[in-house]
Amino acid sequence: MKNRREFLTLSGAAALYLLTGCSDGGTNPGGGGGDTPPGEETANALPIPELKLPVERAGVKHYDLNIIESQHTFFEGVKTNTYAIDSTYLGPTLLLTRGDKVSLNYTNKLSVETTMHGHGMHLPGEMDGTAHQPIAVGGTWSAKYTVDQTACTNWYHPHYLHQTAPHVYQGLAGMLIIEDDESRSLDIPKRYGVDDIPLVLQDRFFSADRRKIVYDPSMDQLDMGYVGDTFITNGAISPVFDAENKEIRFRILNGSNSTMYDLGFRNAKSFKQIATDNAFLEEPIEMNRLLLSPGERAEIVVDFTDDMDAEFTLYDFMHSQTFLTVNVSKSATASTTLPAVLTTLDPVPTATNSRQFTLGMRGMDTFTINGKTMNMNRIDAALSRGDVEEWEIINGTGMNHNFHIHGTHFRVVSRDDDPAAVAENDKGYKDVVYLPPHSRLKFIVEIPNDDVTADAANPYMFHCHFLEHEDNGMMGQFTVS
Ligand code: C2O
Ligand code: CU
Ligand code: CU
Repeated sequence: MKNRREFLTLSGAAALYLLTGCSDGGTNPGGGGGDTPPGEETANALPIPELKLPVERAGVKHYDLNIIESQHTFFEGVKTNTYAIDSTYLGPTLLLTRGDKVSLNYTNKLSVETTMHGHGMHLPGEMDGTAHQPIAVGGTWSAKYTVDQTACTNWYHPHYLHQTAPHVYQGLAGMLIIEDDESRSLDIPKRYGVDDIPLVLQDRFFSADRRKIVYDPSMDQLDMGYVGDTFITNGAISPVFDAENKEIRFRILNGSNSTMYDLGFRNAKSFKQIATDNAFLEEPIEMNRLLLSPGERAEIVVDFTDDMDAEFTLYDFMHSQTFLTVNVSKSATASTTLPAVLTTLDPVPTATNSRQFTLGMRGMDTFTINGKTMNMNRIDAALSRGDVEEWEIINGTGMNHNFHIHGTHFRVVSRDDDPAAVAENDKGYKDVVYLPPHSRLKFIVEIPNDDVTADAANPYMFHCHFLEHEDNGMMGQFTVS
């Protein structure tokens, strides 16, 4: 029954899509054609989030960030009300280097309390930016920590109890890129905005006059995914990226609230995944489809060297929607050759304790883990530094879920008790993993043996990253002592 409902929802979205006349690339006012004169910017060019530069004070890199109400142009000639971070929609990209001492100073200029969480960051619980660290209206809260983890693509977004979904939906999210000696020495694309491109993929519903982003999920959408009718990339509808004819790296974030994306190029152009959520993969994995659940990241490298003047469409095959057109129109101004080996990951450690977490429901709109809904005053698991545990996550429902952990990462070791069923690109360091309906998986989680601590007043969270599920109970807390 649930599956059938999901099918109907998809058909509905597809029908609406046809009605509004959005064919592939058709929403580009000036893009889509391969006849853009050289050197001229294509209309509806892919927006690249600004790289925020820090101000250094006493050896600490300060990033001053304002969370504001703003207006953004999604549709030509229309200003849509949004939330943003020093922008009109989304926020700037923060580029951090391993070893940096940083202070991310968030000032809340909204009329409501919010928080700002560093998703994928390994930092002390009190710097995590969850519901335990609210930012008062008009107040400033600082996440101060030393960056101590391998190069990866993380992101920041609100984590306010019961309000994460609407706050993210209005536009609060940004990229947190971490570099280290290894990532800097690899012969991979790393010129931000030139051949190293962040892609925040989302979908939204707008009001009829398009002046508002409408967050109003029905019970069905709460359960099965709040899949908008307008797909956006870095806040633009079907934008065009004018690429150099060389290897291009895309840092892809599924920044949606609760939409699964099945990504690929429409002409089946292949690409190589080089990184998962929290680290490089040991070797690039050749693929032509990439399934990303909400909150997951993947870095891919696409080789456009022999594709001058060709056009490629990055597409979500799950919902038949276009995210981006890549127009290979510029001559390469540097070259890279993707190495066969990217990094060495630690062997998967042996667990000394195991736990089970069952994702379930109570009624139609309450989501549970082990039968309980989120309670800020309850600690669900107490761990210690250096602990290695096997967690089994069970999706006992007929709907999609995933599982995210704060403060550390994990290694998926089996799906439905079969180690061979773990996809190659799920074998790296992950902090979000997809759980199809009625499935289970096991991962090994290791608590770092450094100064990572989370006490009962500032615990870490684990939760489903389908934000409608998280906001309605599917979240728990753990301490690290
Ligand atoms: Cu991206 Cu606890 O969240
Ligand atoms: Cu997180
Ligand atoms: Cu869920």
